[in-house]
Amino acid sequence: MNERETLKINGKGHLEIGGADCVELANKFGTPVYLFDEAHIRNMMRVYRDTLAQKYAGKGLVLYASKAFSCQAVYRIADEENIGIDVVSGGELFTALKASFPADKIYMHGNNKLDYEIGEALDAGVGCIVADAYSELDKIDAEAKKRGITQTVLLRINPGIEAHTHAFVQTATTDSKFGFSISNGTAEKATLYAMSKKHLHLAGYHCHIGSQIFEKQSFVLAVEKCMDFSAEMKKKHSFALETLNIGGGFGIWYTDEDRKIPPEGYAEYLEALITAVMDKANEHNLALPFLLIEPGRSIIGEAGITLYKVGAIKDIPGVKKYVAIDGGMFDNPRYALYQSKYTPVLANRANDKATEIVTIAGKCCESGDIIATNVALPKVESGDIIAILSTGAYNYSMAMNYNRNLIPPCVLVQNGEAEYIVRPQSYEDINRNDVIPSRLAKK
Ligand code: LLP
Repeated sequence: MNERETLKINGKGHLEIGGADCVELANKFGTPVYLFDEAHIRNMMRVYRDTLAQKYAGKGLVLYASKAFSCQAVYRIADEENIGIDVVSGGELFTALKASFPADKIYMHGNNKLDYEIGEALDAGVGCIVADAYSELDKIDAEAKKRGITQTVLLRINPGIEAHTHAFVQTATTDSKFGFSISNGTAEKATLYAMSKKHLHLAGYHCHIGSQIFEKQSFVLAVEKCMDFSAEMKKKHSFALETLNIGGGFGIWYTDEDRKIPPEGYAEYLEALITAVMDKANEHNLALPFLLIEPGRSIIGEAGITLYKVGAIKDIPGVKKYVAIDGGMFDNPRYALYQSKYTPVLANRANDKATEIVTIAGKCCESGDIIATNVALPKVESGDIIAILSTGAYNYSMAMNYNRNLIPPCVLVQNGEAEYIVRPQSYEDINRNDVIPSRLAKK
């Protein structure tokens, strides 16, 4: 097993997260359950925050990309750590506001913000909206006018970088639903368009080149292109870059095919970007912009694990051994969506040697409901507890009620103490919005 600060094996041979015994947590909270180590989350937020403060000659702010994991408690942690957040929907915005997150440190994203979401963002007084279409610029301008305000916006631009990651999570190649492309001239047109709007203040640009990327160079290239483009806009249109948001996307460890970067290691990624911004500002004689980064996965991903209980075991001789768990694609759809790989640990016998290769299957009525294929585990018995590592990002946030399975609760662990941050769903919860028209009522 890949031993990490967050995870340990205790004297009983049980997996521990944040100082709490996973077998005890499984007994107390039931399974499946998402567990989060608070220290790890805070540590990652601090690494980014402190690196930005210490290495960047200008000013800046770390934004936690809350699509990775959104709930009220995580917004409280981000606020306590003095960082900002990005939200991509009215739902995330509402959740953050419910958690008393300061609106001026909220950045609103999305490639198709709905009219009411723009209204909600303006009413809340969010610091900035990142616009991704002409129609959005029109709507934000009109809504700002109604309220007698000027709204600060950034334009999402597409630097056309092809990052080395799974094709489905690339967002800045030329064929992308995101951003105004630099290369085909739409970013320039959108700049002029935004500058012409009375109730908008165009503060700068945003780019995000994709997710789960380890290639430092692709981030650096994207930053360089944004800075070159800003210099061109200054020359041609006297546009002054005040703010540059360079997105998120740093990769994390899921299996030993991935690089294992300790929390401090992420400082190097940020430093490479900072250097690129400062060098380019120097080269083009631009003032240093207010610098924003938006990591999501790298803040929360390795801080989380999911515990499951083993149920049916199906050995198909010469083919495969399926180990079925009490969760599946409804709590983690990432294998079904991206064939993502995960590392399992037998949490109740974590020191046992791996002796067999199994496929971990979920309980949904769907053959593709798999959590991990061909993974090595000790001989697994029904009733064992399996921990899947690195599930903190894009698991709970993409969970669903397929087959009317209940979305598992989220538990936050701090110094061995554990408590709910998202309570378990009940069958009543998932029936709350069902309506039986009177003509269908049971007679
Ligand atoms: N900023 C923007 C504008 C984004 O679109 C994203 C992620 C981030 C920041 C944060 O990126 P991160 O640091 O988390 O890589 N559901 C997929 C991931 C989709 C990422 C979407 N955008 C998955 O499970 O892998």
